Amino acid sequence: MADLRVLSTSEWAGAVADELAARLAARVAGRLVLPTGDTPAPLYAEIVARANGGSLSLAETELILLDEYVGLEPGDPARCDAQLRAELVDRLPTPRPRFRAIPVDTLTPEVAAAAHDATAAAGIDIALVGLGRNGHVGFNEPGSTADSPTRVVELTDESIAAAVGYGAHGRPTHGITLGLSRLLQASEIWLLVTGAHKAEVLRTALEGPETPVCPASYLRRHPRLVVWADELAAL
Ligand code: PGA
Repeated sequence: MADLRVLSTSEWAGAVADELAARLAARVAGRLVLPTGDTPAPLYAEIVARANGGSLSLAETELILLDEYVGLEPGDPARCDAQLRAELVDRLPTPRPRFRAIPVDTLTPEVAAAAHDATAAAGIDIALVGLGRNGHVGFNEPGSTADSPTRVVELTDESIAAAVGYGAHGRPTHGITLGLSRLLQASEIWLLVTGAHKAEVLRTALEGPETPVCPASYLRRHPRLVVWADELAAL
C-alpha cells in the first residue's frame, strides 16, 4: 500500500521539503535520485531557499540524475543535467553536493547507461520520481516492467515533445533512464504528482492493475512508496 500524502497545492513543496530536511538531518538521505520536469521545480526552489537560509543542507549528499536525453549537446536547455544544475545544484551554497549526471558526452549511450547504473547500484536512499501522463517513470515508457534495467530507450512522442518544449536544439529520439528494477531497489521511492492533468494517471497507477501499460503501477511493489500529491492530482 502506498503512503498517500495529499497537500494543498500551495503547501506541497514545503511538505516534501520538510520530510526531506528531516531525513537529511537524520543522515538517512545521503544518496538521492532526482528527476527533472515541471513537477519538481517548486520543490527545488524550496530546497534552494532553505539551503541558502541554513535550515537544510545537501552538502554531504550525492545527487543521481534519473534520466537524460541522448544526442543533445552539453548545456542544451532541454538536457536533464542542465535543468537540474540550473534549478538546484548551481544555486546551492558551497560546499555543493556531488552531482552524478549521466555521462552521455564522453561515452557511447550503452556504456553511459551501464556506468550510470553502476553509480545507482552503490545505493539509493530515496528515489524521487515524477509521473508522466502516459504512466512513465523517468524514461521507463509504457511497455516497461518491474524488471526493466537501466538502459537506452526510444522516446515516446510525449517525451520528445517535452524536450522541444524545453527548447531543445534538435529533436532527440533516444534517452537513458534508470530502470524500474534499479529504482525499486531504493530504500524509499517518493512519487511526486501535481496538477489536475495528472489525476487520471495517478488513479490508474495506484488503483489499476499492475501493467506495462502504466509502468508507474509497478512502484506499488515497493514497501516504502510515498506518493506526494497535491489536491488537484489526488482528486
Ligand atoms: P512533468 O513530467 O513533471 O514535467 O509533468 C513528469 C514526467 O513526465 O515524468
